[in-house]
Amino acid sequence: MTNGLFITLEGIEGAGKSTQQDYIERLFNQSGRQVITTREPGGTRLGEELRSILLATKNISNISENTELLMMFSARSQHLDEVIRPAIERGEVVISDRFTDSSFAYQGGGRGVEISRIQQLTNWLHADCQPDLTFLFDLPIEIGLERAGKRSASDRFESEDRLFFQKVREQYLHRASLEPERIVIINADQDIESIQTEISRVLKDKGLL
Ligand code: TYD
Repeated sequence: MTNGLFITLEGIEGAGKSTQQDYIERLFNQSGRQVITTREPGGTRLGEELRSILLATKNISNISENTELLMMFSARSQHLDEVIRPAIERGEVVISDRFTDSSFAYQGGGRGVEISRIQQLTNWLHADCQPDLTFLFDLPIEIGLERAGKRSASDRFESEDRLFFQKVREQYLHRASLEPERIVIINADQDIESIQTEISRVLKDKGLL
C-alpha cells in the first residue's frame, strides 16, 4: 500500500487557498491517488458547528483568547480522529485548507497567546501526526484583505484590523523560517497559472507526484 500523505494550505484571507486546493487534488487524482479535501476549523459535523460559532460576527467580543484557541483545537482533535488519521492510515492524500499553523499565526501571532501554550496543545494532540508538507500562500495583507472583501460577507476574523493581519503574516513567515523543509512559501501575489506551476514543481521536486 502507498504511504498516506498529509498536505496543509496556509495563508491570510484572500491568499487563494481553495482554488489551489482544487488544483492539488486534481494533480494527485491524475496520478491515481485517493484524495480527501477538508478544512479547519471544520471537516467533521462537530467541527463545522464549532466553526459557525467561531466565525459568527455576533460573537465578536464574546470569545476569550484562550477559549478561541481551545475551540480551534477541539475541532482539530475531532478532525484528526474522524478524518485525518484514518485517511492517512488507508494510504490516502489528505489536503487540508488550514491546520495547526493557523493557530500559531492567528491565536499566537494575531491575538498574542503564548506560543509555548499552542506548542503544548500540539504536542498533546498530534505529535504523531504532523503535515508532511505545508504551502504557505504569502501576499501583502492589503491585497489579501481586498480580495477577501470582494468575495464574501465578513466573518469574525475578517473584522480584525490591519495590525492583526500583519502579525498573523509575520508569525507565518517566522514559522516558515523555523521549518523550511516542511513549509514552502509561495508568492500568492501572482497569476493563478504561475502559482500552479510552482506548486507542481515543488511536489515533483519532493518526489510526491
Ligand atoms: P476561512 O474561511 O477558512 O478563511 P479564508 O478567509 O482563508 O477562507 O476562515 C477560517 C478563519 O479561522 C480564518 O480567519 C482563520 C481562522 N483560524 C484561526 O484563527 N485559527 C485556526 O487554528 C484556524 C484553523 C483558523
